Amino acid sequence: MRLFIAIELPEIVKQQLASLRMDIPGVRWVPPVQLHLTLAFLGVVTEETQSMLEKHLETICMPVFPVHFTQTGCFPDRRRPRVLWVGVEPEPLLAMLAGNIRTSVLACGIPQEARPFSPHITLARIKVPGAGDVRTFLDHSLEGDILPLDVRNFTLFASRLDATGAVHTAIKSFQLTG
Ligand code: 2AM
Repeated sequence: MRLFIAIELPEIVKQQLASLRMDIPGVRWVPPVQLHLTLAFLGVVTEETQSMLEKHLETICMPVFPVHFTQTGCFPDRRRPRVLWVGVEPEPLLAMLAGNIRTSVLACGIPQEARPFSPHITLARIKVPGAGDVRTFLDHSLEGDILPLDVRNFTLFASRLDATGAVHTAIKSFQLTG
């Protein structure tokens, strides 16, 4: 199965993030139900590796921590935006959680990209950069538009690609409170 690990968002936060959508040509907005904060992308994993990974993930023991949403932004840069996102305030416990998950994933032999963890919530993807003007989105100040969130668990998801795009299904959640 094609897997990834993410923080699920409460319904109210999904709605608040969805309210940042605007009509921009060439921009494909992620359906609100699918919004999440990715901690690790695993790619296609065998059942055997998945069950080994689940055992590793169960041993992660960390306190609950907050996530504050800060500003809008884009990857790779403003000149050729491909992904529009909302970023989160630096939080050492979030970085530690991503680091612990990465260690578990690597221990199961699943390769990971070398680039540093850059926490964000992808709101939209752009097939043809430059087709529409994303400046209004990027210059939007969040000013507390999005409620902060207490992270109490993280979730292993399956991602199935079909004709309409990716369909995400939660497989298992892991509690942080240890
Ligand atoms: P992101 O868009 O939040 O950065 C599920 O596919 C999630 O895994 C995506 O939302 C994406 O997170 C992340 N991801 C990271 N690398 C990926 C890749 N090579 N292919 C697909 N998804 C990837």
